[in-house]
Amino acid sequence: MGNAFGLTDTADLRAALAGGATLPADWYSDPTILRLEQDRIFARAWQYAGRADQVAEPGDYFTSFAGHVPVIVVRDRSAELRAFVNVCRHRGHLVADGAGNRKSLQCPYHAWTYALDGSLKKAPRSEREPGFDRGGFSLLPVAVDTWGPLVFVSPDPEAGPLLEALGPLPGLVAESGLDLGLLRFRERTEWEIASNWKIAIENYLECYHCPVAHPGFSKVIDVDPDAYELRAEGLVSSQFGTPKASAKGNGKAPYDPTGVIAQAQYHLFWPNVTVNIDPGPGNMSVDVTRPAGPERSAGFTDWFYYEDVPDETVRQMMEFGTQVGREDAALVESVQRGLASGMVPHGRLLISSEHLIQHFQRLVYEALAS
Ligand code: FES
Ligand SMILES: [Fe+2]
Repeated sequence: MGNAFGLTDTADLRAALAGGATLPADWYSDPTILRLEQDRIFARAWQYAGRADQVAEPGDYFTSFAGHVPVIVVRDRSAELRAFVNVCRHRGHLVADGAGNRKSLQCPYHAWTYALDGSLKKAPRSEREPGFDRGGFSLLPVAVDTWGPLVFVSPDPEAGPLLEALGPLPGLVAESGLDLGLLRFRERTEWEIASNWKIAIENYLECYHCPVAHPGFSKVIDVDPDAYELRAEGLVSSQFGTPKASAKGNGKAPYDPTGVIAQAQYHLFWPNVTVNIDPGPGNMSVDVTRPAGPERSAGFTDWFYYEDVPDETVRQMMEFGTQVGREDAALVESVQRGLASGMVPHGRLLISSEHLIQHFQRLVYEALAS
């Protein structure tokens, strides 16, 4: 195998990962690694973009990102769901912004106008241009599909079926007792963190840090390794947590498992989408963490609840989740500073508690070596 990274002998690295070593520290700040990740991970993988309810009617659209790739998702006039790279074929301005309903998509720079099927309809003054062929400048297509209330996109139009990529995830979520059809969107929260995207995902993938770093969470979920289950299959890494007996029936909203959900489920869908279901009433939150630079990430969380969940319960559950998120942000920003020093070139995983990180790092390695 060729050395794609110019950093480490790739065969040695594969063996090191199998032995419990982490990825090299400089992979968390090197712009060359980020460019490889953009090409080989984010330009290929299915990623959550937004909600199906935003594109329910013909003409509805919303804009989003798949990693670094700006995308637009649209319901065209024949009610077909489509997605495109949201970059004008003229000189690269973003074609659309935000969300709404439109008859066509007009770039705000020089007014090139695209139909909802992506074809270029109008380019002012192009009739003065001998040989200009509008047919050659359609918006670039992006793969799009839905799972329950969620719209996923892949910048690779040849990406296989979403359902195949999701693998065990729909079945696991169904086992939780959650009915995706009953979920209603409540709110989106957005954030930025001063860490490489992989540090944030790796932090998500273990609860070894929970007793130390999440005192509130550890009070209600049994984070003992014998009770807290980790499972990886294909592109999905899952964690299952059971509420402590002491948390049951105490009347406090966060994680009081008297609702339809008895067990917590925390799933990573490779590479950067996490799906969280907490004990309690019907709920699900979906996070996307994408690189905003080698040492920065940008993300958002979409919060869904059953319609009959009272606002006060929603507020308490969101506040509880947000507090855990604040604790995690401090951890990953500290790891970024530590790794960026370059003084500790590899970490060492404890496989019994951190094998989901090993699985994730193997996927990163395989993607970059491909
Ligand atoms: S860049 Fe879009 S019309 Fe010129
Ligand atoms: Fe955490």
